[in-house]
Amino acid sequence: MILTLSHQKGGVGKSTIAWNLALEFSKFLPVTVIDLDMQRSMSAANRIRTDKGMAPLDICHFGDADEFVHYIEKDHEGRLTIIDSGGFDSSFNRIAIMASDVLLTPVSDKPFDLLGLQKYEEILEALSGFQEKTIKTHVVLNNLNPALRNFGDVMEFVLMSEYFELMTSVLRQRVDFSNSVGVGKSVIEHAPQGRAALEMKALCKEIGEILNIL
Ligand SMILES: Nc1ncnc2c1ncn2[C@@H]1O[C@H](COP(=O)(O)OP(=O)(O)OP(=O)(O)O)[C@@H](O)[C@H]1O
Ligand SMILES: [Mg+2]
Repeated sequence: MILTLSHQKGGVGKSTIAWNLALEFSKFLPVTVIDLDMQRSMSAANRIRTDKGMAPLDICHFGDADEFVHYIEKDHEGRLTIIDSGGFDSSFNRIAIMASDVLLTPVSDKPFDLLGLQKYEEILEALSGFQEKTIKTHVVLNNLNPALRNFGDVMEFVLMSEYFELMTSVLRQRVDFSNSVGVGKSVIEHAPQGRAALEMKALCKEIGEILNIL
């Protein structure tokens, strides 16, 4: 089973969410992470984790597209592969989109994120034409101002598109997300009673149900 955090726009929260999902789902089944992020964000956090004596994630990298395709075409029965794709459009990221069972796309309510989402819709449209089926991604609103109640434009755009499915869970802007990565932990491990942890648990539950793993 392959879950890919995908959006060609940078800085929307792909690595942050992939990191948290991987650590939480590792409690239930074997998880492998493929780190396609140029910054290797998850690998860096995983080194902190290892240094602190916590069980690290299984993270791999691919420099060669053929090796990457070979890996994802193999049958990984009973294993969840989470791909953290880079914040740009590339053949690696397009392969990941087409190979995934479930796609997850974080987006905030900021105006530039709406423009980024329009561009991403064009990519999904092109790949859907190529595969002759509609490729849908689950859109999760992330990094939202905690006081904001109306996400008007982004929500309207997501709800209108045949390529997007809006998730019920939302993640607000919380310092726990960056603080926890900095100490090699998920938000749930770092501040289990905090709001970020509660929001992340709700997202894990929703995605776990889509993947049928919880
Ligand atoms: N819900 C949130 N609350 C607070 N900060 C957040 C949240 N989500 C992400 N961030 C912060 O936003 C920044 C970008 O997040 P992240 O690196 O996960 O994005 P990305 O989509 O993986 O970026 P790239 O495309 O460059 O790989 C990080 O500093 C992260 O800590
Ligand atoms: Mg990233």
